[in-house]
Amino acid sequence: MRLGVNVDHVATVRQQRHEAYPDPVEAALLAQRAGADSIVAHLREDRRHIQDADIRRLKAAVRKLNMEMAISPSVIAVALAVKPERVTLVPERRRELTTEGGLDAAGGGARLKRAVGRFHEAGILVSMFIGADERQLTASAKLGASAVEFHTGGYAEALSTARRIAEARRIARCARLAASMGLEVAAGHGLNLANVAAIVRIPEIEELNIGHSIVARAVVVGMPAAVREMRSRMRR
Ligand code: PXP
Repeated sequence: MRLGVNVDHVATVRQQRHEAYPDPVEAALLAQRAGADSIVAHLREDRRHIQDADIRRLKAAVRKLNMEMAISPSVIAVALAVKPERVTLVPERRRELTTEGGLDAAGGGARLKRAVGRFHEAGILVSMFIGADERQLTASAKLGASAVEFHTGGYAEALSTARRIAEARRIARCARLAASMGLEVAAGHGLNLANVAAIVRIPEIEELNIGHSIVARAVVVGMPAAVREMRSRMRR
């Protein structure tokens, strides 16, 4: 199972003071050296953490960049200019603290279809960040996505064991369905050392994308140790 490390919150600490440090590119290189298979960064419309220049520098520095983004014109322009290996399309609401739910691939209409077409023309793989929902899955496949990433927030934030188990089962069911459609399957959001095991057990999931918990842990033990800890917890 591959691990993508999201470095957004390294930039959050930097932007809090408008300093030049800590540098998300330096953190990304440390994560890559410690075993991250790809680096994930979300260029938000309001540029609250990752900046356009970070995306350019990340693309030049790391082996595989997965750029998370909403389909807003200024962000699409950066993606088409930088050409990351992959874009993950996410919904975005200005006032949210983090990406709260999955993309509405089924209701995305012509705008979403046009955006996916432009990425394909540029040779960029497209992943859809969706809830574990059959309708969204079918719509993602129809739009020509090569991968889907299931939003694990509902699982990670479940308040009862029964709810958590139900959420994990729903993700497992949709992961099987996605794989049967020929889609690559990833998952992410809210995963940490304590809750990752049940998601790791789903055989069709090939990649986890984890940000906040790894960056938070890196503050205490350093980025290489934080990545190695997660990698060893992910061993099936
Ligand atoms: N995957 C996607 C598509 C996301 O939007 C996010 C949050 O930016 C993550 C993974 C990582 O979530 P977290 O920071 O909660 O680990």
